[in-house]
Amino acid sequence: QGSTGNNARNVLGNASVREAAAMLADGKLIAFPTETVYGLGADARNTDAVAGIFAAKGRPSDNPLIVHIANRSELDAFAAEVSEADEKLMAAFWPGPLTLVLPVRAEALSPKVTAGLDTVAVRMPDHPVALELIRASGCPLAAPSANRSGRPSPTLASHVWEDLNGRIDGIVDGGPAGVGVESTVVRTNALGGATVLRPGGVSVDELIQVLDAPVNQVSADHGADLDPEAVMAEAEPMQSSPTEAGSHNAELRSELRDDVTQGGTTEEAPRSPGMKYTHYAPSGQLEIVIGSDDQVKKGIRERLAAARVRGEKTGVLVFDEHLACYEKGADVALSLGSKHDLREAASRLYAALRQFDESGTTYMLAEGCSEEGIGLAIMNRMSKAAGGRIHRV
Ligand code: TXA
Ligand code: MG
Repeated sequence: QGSTGNNARNVLGNASVREAAAMLADGKLIAFPTETVYGLGADARNTDAVAGIFAAKGRPSDNPLIVHIANRSELDAFAAEVSEADEKLMAAFWPGPLTLVLPVRAEALSPKVTAGLDTVAVRMPDHPVALELIRASGCPLAAPSANRSGRPSPTLASHVWEDLNGRIDGIVDGGPAGVGVESTVVRTNALGGATVLRPGGVSVDELIQVLDAPVNQVSADHGADLDPEAVMAEAEPMQSSPTEAGSHNAELRSELRDDVTQGGTTEEAPRSPGMKYTHYAPSGQLEIVIGSDDQVKKGIRERLAAARVRGEKTGVLVFDEHLACYEKGADVALSLGSKHDLREAASRLYAALRQFDESGTTYMLAEGCSEEGIGLAIMNRMSKAAGGRIHRV
């Protein structure tokens, strides 16, 4: 890998951890592997560096960042208050894919990290390279996922390269990220329970087990979370022509309005600012089909046949057990692995969505899965990518 020279900034492939840590301490932007997805790191105390993250990603400045630490003791420098429930969760899940939202000591971090909120999101990643990088840099690292806004989160260094080449100072390549979907974002409450603001690598059942108190969860299809204005602000036409993207977004907006008027089961729950953005909308139209195996197969086959008649370039994203059914009916057939291994499905999801964009499919169908365990995070990300288009057959 080398710089394409389209920007003054030079991306180093495979930067060594020591070199990368020194660059971070110097206010530079470095992408690095975590156990969930690749992050784009900067010193969370350095406002210029943090502003650089928002600029490189094209991220709206009202969407706050997660701060990554390597030792529990680093938390006290910038968290104003840590409850007993927070302590329990840290003891059980750190290092690991759990982010806690805590009251912040305002002066300790750049205000850009928290987007002006009085809370900060923190996690300790379970990845040796990430931990070594944080320790060697001596900085708390603000790090959102290392994708351009509107693209799937990166699970490989090459995904970071595709999106941010020429916009950041380095990438540390640690091979494939493990979990494949982002961390679970949680806010604990005075009753010792918690609200899940974003489902992720730690499941609701695991949280309940540790807290031994009620845990509210956001529903997977998030109709009510999506702000139609924000869809326009963040979704970027990647490969489609402006007119196609415009009509796609207009359609999405009218669907979302419907959802918003129907929504409301989680009206009381605190919100994660990021949840109002459609993080990723493929260039083509994605729809999800959920139901019994036979009904799903039939539903997908019928929709594929109709799409063929319309002249669409079609794609399916299904489990291994059913892949053979569609190999003739779809132009691009991708697998999430066995339907009995949702951890595997989570690790493959984002790369598959990137593959659809690369292959230029215009109409894609994905098989839904159970919302048990990590299935909740999979369905949450899939339904966001589908703009809430879910067929229950
Ligand atoms: O697994 C992950 O969490 C990855 C890796 C790189 O650590 N990071 C990640 O960051 O997914 P990002 O920026 O893509 O998502 C951060 C989420 C957003 O939904 C944001 O709104 C929410 O965390 N968040 C950040 N600070 C918050 C706060 N103070 N209160 C509520 N939500 C917050
Ligand atoms: Mg992200």
